[in-house]
Amino acid sequence: MSRLRVIESISEMQTVSEDARLTGNRVTLVPTMGYLHEGHASLIRRARRDGDVVVVSIFVNPTQFGPGEDYESYPRDFERDLELIERCGGEVVFAPTEEEMYPDGFTTHADVVGLTDHLCGASRPGHFRGVATVVAKLFTACRPHAAVFGQKDAQQAMVIRRLSRDLNLGVEILVSPTIREADGLARSSRNVYLSEGERAAAPVLFHALQAGQRLALKGERRREHLISAMRAEIERSELADIDYVEAVSADRLRQDEDLNDSFLLAVAVRFGRARLIDNILVSSDPQRPESA
Ligand code: PAJ
Repeated sequence: MSRLRVIESISEMQTVSEDARLTGNRVTLVPTMGYLHEGHASLIRRARRDGDVVVVSIFVNPTQFGPGEDYESYPRDFERDLELIERCGGEVVFAPTEEEMYPDGFTTHADVVGLTDHLCGASRPGHFRGVATVVAKLFTACRPHAAVFGQKDAQQAMVIRRLSRDLNLGVEILVSPTIREADGLARSSRNVYLSEGERAAAPVLFHALQAGQRLALKGERRREHLISAMRAEIERSELADIDYVEAVSADRLRQDEDLNDSFLLAVAVRFGRARLIDNILVSSDPQRPESA
């Protein structure tokens, strides 16, 4: 018998969370789009260590997909997700319908300006507006003290931290390290799109980041050199179609600032219908490890 409580309605979710808060419990949220894997599992375990009540949301958010992207075909397996959540110590699953989240006449959006100019913000116009809007709604529905996000989507985690701060949402943002397959490929729900050949080639993202990191650790700070070393690694695979290969300042994600002590190496590459992203934070600041 499952001990999970599955909630579809926003008002019920708010009541459950308010009750937990009133009895002195810390509520920690893990927002997801489902089709959960070990990356999500690590976030749920982190939430388990952080909070008394762990809420996992599952909602494939239509507003963060652009025209021609994979909203319709995004993989879904609700029953398997519930098993994984229970195994990792989640207890409440918030799984609203599209109508519950975006009723007719919905017109309000959250835009985080500046941080979204580069990287995925540039190649997926409107994406972060959809992410910020749905996360603001998930926060007001689940009323968590803290929420856990993955370093794999580094720009997303930064956008959400800014959103929470700027709108006084009062949610502490925790960032958990990237979980990888044995060959270095970052776990992703979209890895199921890869053919056998594409799957075999996909670790070039991580190899490219490692090549950039090696140079950076030797002191290289010239952006073009870091980028061309990473590009060369990715171009070894004929199946790889580069979206971007970047080195940006870690605090503002800008391409036009000098690279100093802390910067992000980030790549987005298409293999067939899968668009994969990955990143490594290069930091000489011991206070700022990749999992900060
Ligand atoms: P989704 O892609 O399902 O990811 C949910 C969370 O899991 C994100 O915080 C993401 O960074 C994290 N994650 C994914 N793969 C990971 C990996 N290999 N290692 C560590 N963490 C990983 O990101 C979203 O959903 C959506 O944009 C969402 C925030 C839910 C808003 O709709």
